[in-house]
Amino acid sequence: MTLSLTRCPAPAKLNLFLHVNGRRPDGYHILQSVFQLIDRCDYLDAEVTNDGLIRRSNDIPGVPEDSDLIIRAARLLQQHTGCERGALLTLHKSLPMGGGLGGGSSDAATTLMALNHLWNTGLNQQQLMQLGLQLGADVPFFLFGQNAFAEGIGEELQPVETPECWYVVVEPGVHVPTPAIFGAPQLTRDTKPVKITDFPADEFVKWKNDLQSVACLLYPEVDKAIQWLSQFGSAKMTGSGACVFCAVSDESEADKIIEKHEGQWKLWKAKSLRIHPMMKKLQAKD
Ligand code: C5P
Repeated sequence: MTLSLTRCPAPAKLNLFLHVNGRRPDGYHILQSVFQLIDRCDYLDAEVTNDGLIRRSNDIPGVPEDSDLIIRAARLLQQHTGCERGALLTLHKSLPMGGGLGGGSSDAATTLMALNHLWNTGLNQQQLMQLGLQLGADVPFFLFGQNAFAEGIGEELQPVETPECWYVVVEPGVHVPTPAIFGAPQLTRDTKPVKITDFPADEFVKWKNDLQSVACLLYPEVDKAIQWLSQFGSAKMTGSGACVFCAVSDESEADKIIEKHEGQWKLWKAKSLRIHPMMKKLQAKD
């Protein structure tokens, strides 16, 4: 019998705001943010093998295997648990790289969830989150599996109620390398920390992304996308860019905005999610 899971969703996130409050001695930044799950996903197929090897059936152009987050996630879980089984992984990628949507981190988190289930390695959510942090600061959020107020470097998470709504997302056609934005001399790193009780949930969207002005300076196409989308609402960048988004009243409003675009950018709509769809998929299996 083959043990496998197909079409495991790896959803994108939007940062409804992102404040940079400081920098740690190791160079990582201390931040506050609200992470919002949306229904635009990559999909992973995972099959258990008996040879102990972790392999991919398809490559992502430009990503060498050793820096591939799904391979690294699988090997990390294997080493951590002493599991002797292997896996054949197939990733159906639609989220852009360097987009600020957390695609790579979400792929890694979905890999950990899928293989922990298939290999029966039995790690609990907290243990998976600790493991995930070794792969990237955003990975614990995707294992947390619900919308969150994040602190620390993004790994201290509390559940948060966010507005249920539709978003229009613009991919401005540039890849923004996260370290270049966090490392830029122009970045301000001294936003005063807020208390979660300081602001009502529907206010999140009005708060700034501190990384945005630096990304706009280094990547003018991001700035142009924000200017264009601002005609329709409060447009903002997610993560370290390049994608920008704006909340809209309903799906038809999103369609209307997308139709108005005549240029080269890729535009799509997404609905807010409350729960990570992989959690539901695994619960249905139990
Ligand atoms: O953790 P991850 O590999 O996703 O982070 C990519 C880069 O983003 C880090 O190397 C660091 O330059 C920057 N970063 C940061 N502070 C954070 C998260 C990311 O400086 N809280």
